Amino acid sequence: MDCEHNIGATAPGRAFCRVAPSILSADFLRLGAQLASMPNADLIHLDVMDGHFVPNLSLGLPVLEALRRFDAETLIDCHLMIDNPLLYAGKFALAGANIVTVHVEAATDAELRRVLADIKSFGATAGLSLKPGTPVEALYPYLADIGVALVMAVEPGFGGQTFQNSALEKIRDLRTYIDKRGIACDIEVDGGINPKSAKKCREAGADILVAGNYVFGATDLKQAVENIRNG
Ligand code: DX5
Ligand code: ZN
Repeated sequence: MDCEHNIGATAPGRAFCRVAPSILSADFLRLGAQLASMPNADLIHLDVMDGHFVPNLSLGLPVLEALRRFDAETLIDCHLMIDNPLLYAGKFALAGANIVTVHVEAATDAELRRVLADIKSFGATAGLSLKPGTPVEALYPYLADIGVALVMAVEPGFGGQTFQNSALEKIRDLRTYIDKRGIACDIEVDGGINPKSAKKCREAGADILVAGNYVFGATDLKQAVENIRNG
């Protein structure tokens, strides 16, 4: 990837893991203050749910636009848990998302190819995610075309669930596949991340860790981010 923020260009064997707090667990009346209190967050993770692909509704474009106005620099990582990603993914890239990730289960191969091209045409990094029940091989045909492979460690739809260890095998498989071929794609993990599961993910080869409840449930958000990165 040639994106200026270097997602997808992390050197293999990196000592550094990025942390992406998920604002799904934020206190929305205090969102600005909460974000300002953790300047060490590497990305802000925005979960978009449509009530079809997952049985929940969450946030959308107005929140992304507000985040972009709030801070022009912070990297915004949009995770689209929606059907018909072709209709919306480009809009998120155009509205200022740095990464736009869609689900491999949400569209046909031809549609996914078009979605990824759309996202990139607006200058964002394209990501693909998979649910816990989807074999990791489903991502392999796309790895050379994406900057982020997002492994779900819980069923998408809700924050605060328990990390499923089966994600670790997928992270290891992806790490091996990516490194063997010298592909520039980062591995991101989402769901049930706390210091204990974060450590397992880092050891398995993850590059970016998403954490909702653990970070926003903490008294010291900045420290919570560090605990995910190094704890
Ligand atoms: C779940 C979302 C996650 C969620 C993670 O479908 O994709 O990003 O916010 O929340 P925690 O860290 O609480 O599991
Ligand atoms: Zn997410």
